[in-house]
Amino acid sequence: MTKEPIILGIESSCDDTSAAILHGQKILSNIVANQQVHSLYGGVVPELASRAHQQNIIPVVDAAIKKANINKEDISAIAFTKGPGLLGSLLVGSSFAKSFAMGMNIPLIAVNHMQGHILSHFIDEGEPIPKFPFLCLTVSGGHTQIVRVESASNMQVIGTTIDDAAGEAFDKSAKILGLPYPGGPHIDKHAKKGNIHTFAFGKSKIKELNFSFSGLKTSILYKIQNNLQKNPRFIEENLENLCASIQHSIVSILLNKLEKAIKLTGIKQLAIAGGVSANSYLRSELGKLAIDKGHQLYIPKFEYCTDNAAMIAITGYFKYLDNNFIDQSETPSARLSF
Ligand code: KG4
Ligand code: ZN
Repeated sequence: MTKEPIILGIESSCDDTSAAILHGQKILSNIVANQQVHSLYGGVVPELASRAHQQNIIPVVDAAIKKANINKEDISAIAFTKGPGLLGSLLVGSSFAKSFAMGMNIPLIAVNHMQGHILSHFIDEGEPIPKFPFLCLTVSGGHTQIVRVESASNMQVIGTTIDDAAGEAFDKSAKILGLPYPGGPHIDKHAKKGNIHTFAFGKSKIKELNFSFSGLKTSILYKIQNNLQKNPRFIEENLENLCASIQHSIVSILLNKLEKAIKLTGIKQLAIAGGVSANSYLRSELGKLAIDKGHQLYIPKFEYCTDNAAMIAITGYFKYLDNNFIDQSETPSARLSF
């Protein structure tokens, strides 16, 4: 092996327990254990999430080390998600990372989860990587941001949601339609056979580069309730068209603000990140926009869109190069900003 560091990444901010091993910028393993228990409740139950992380963390790390075909003594540093996220979930990953760092006498690196989503673009998969500066539309279950990325350590949020996140807009709409949690992938799937123009929904008008999805959610709820009063089978009979129209509305809000950000900043290098970047309609509409306007677009591999530890390990790699380590007194933070 070359002298490049080997980083163990740990992600436990929400309901996925993940561990990854990175050698330089190349992934040797990326193991994710999803928590099915939450689908029974239509959303993540924080208490159950922390308990499941506690059960999963050791087997997941073991599997990542085995799959990477290394010994734990080969690991140069451990990086973990410091926040934002659910505090009980973050505590499991951070406590594990601290103990591991102490036991192995290696440096400890704290990573911002949202920064991790963005830097997942720098995992070496033999594909082109974004050049600085670029704009990243970071869309997940908890966040919706337009980020101006100047370097791996210098990023500014230039637009954000004032209420729900884009992922929440997908998940709450799916709940209204009676689809399982998390609803984003289900809406994506049903929308493929639907017509985007069948239903129109009201959207809030928000200034500058900020987003709002609560007006859209209310409009979807009222339209469906009104129609259900006239026809109890309204959802089943229109599921595909409803999903396509809802998805079109959410994606239009996102693209509208991204186009505005391109105009304001003059930056034409674009990237997307976060769970919602797995959405097939968002990916194809962004692709069309990039081709139309001659922008350069970077879309992550599906496995790096939703929560994973590879993105924490790559962020750890950049911090390792900067000697940006923390000591054992650091604590996780549920509302961590950049
Ligand atoms: O980044 P992520 O895995 O976790 C958070 O940090 O929140 O994002 C999860 C979100 C959920 O809201 C989920 O419904 C959404 O990403 N999502 C999707 C798709 N896949 C995941 N939304 C729309 N279309 C998809 N294909
Ligand atoms: Zn995330």
